[in-house]
Amino acid sequence: MSFAKDARAGLTASPKTLPAKYFYDELGSALFEAICLLPEYYLTRAEDEILKQHAGEIVKSVGGTFDIVELGSGSALKTRHIIAAALANQPTLTYRPIDISTTALEASAESLSREFPALKVSGVAADYFEGLKRISRESDGRRLALFLGSNVGNFEPHVAIAVLRELRGVLAPGDALLLGADLRKDRSVLEAAYDDPLGVTASFNLNVLARINRELGGEFDLDQFDHLARYDEPNGRMEMHLVSRQAQTVRVNALELEVKFAEGETIHTESSYKYDKPTLRALAAGGGFDLVHTWTDSAKRFSSSLLRAV
Ligand code: AVJ
Repeated sequence: MSFAKDARAGLTASPKTLPAKYFYDELGSALFEAICLLPEYYLTRAEDEILKQHAGEIVKSVGGTFDIVELGSGSALKTRHIIAAALANQPTLTYRPIDISTTALEASAESLSREFPALKVSGVAADYFEGLKRISRESDGRRLALFLGSNVGNFEPHVAIAVLRELRGVLAPGDALLLGADLRKDRSVLEAAYDDPLGVTASFNLNVLARINRELGGEFDLDQFDHLARYDEPNGRMEMHLVSRQAQTVRVNALELEVKFAEGETIHTESSYKYDKPTLRALAAGGGFDLVHTWTDSAKRFSSSLLRAV
């Protein structure tokens, strides 16, 4: 589906929504990189701590030599720990990142190749479903799939299971998946991580409207929308919304569309599901994997799980 189609569907739906994958144009990817540096956004540092600490163990547990496939690699900073550990055990390594952002793919491919001369990087610029379709089922060796950064959290639980099944389809029995999932915790910690005082996350959220203005001839006045981040505790998910500050009508010229907003009406722009032991186990089993081991960071905020394809 294209941005135009998805934007039309989302802005004419009730309640209004926009898919989170459209955050990541060049500016949005840069804003996300900035989010990862925020003191309140603990996720990236927590996962980095886990991978730094346990990369050797993880690679040993996969066993033998393997290739790496990654969903949503972004700048691939945390992947470096796994790549370095793998290259301590095997002379060469093929790395196939799948990412929606061409900019992020190109930048990470270049710096990884420079850092690891024995690494063959072959990226796919696509969303997950499309990217996995392009990665063939046959590979002579083993595969380690990486799905890091709590990227799985953007999917409704039943869709997350479907993504894992899809991923399972490009793996052979015995292949491994390393899954990074954020953990359920106090509302105050979660809401601060998605509503930082510098306003970087607010800008990241508003950028999707700016992108509609740039690419689809939208006439959104960004000053007329507020960033909202709230934890839906019963469902275990963070939500981001853009809240219309007043009643207004916004034209999107390329779609020949006029979008009406009531005062306080929101566009739901992202859900970020948080996991715990039982929901992680259900996700693994539903996707066709055994949950082998889960590591957490020292503050127990984030989890990295090694799954084995059944
Ligand atoms: C990239 C999907 C993991 O949900 O935490 C960061 C994106 N949204 N701040 C997340 C995000 C708001 C992030 N993921």
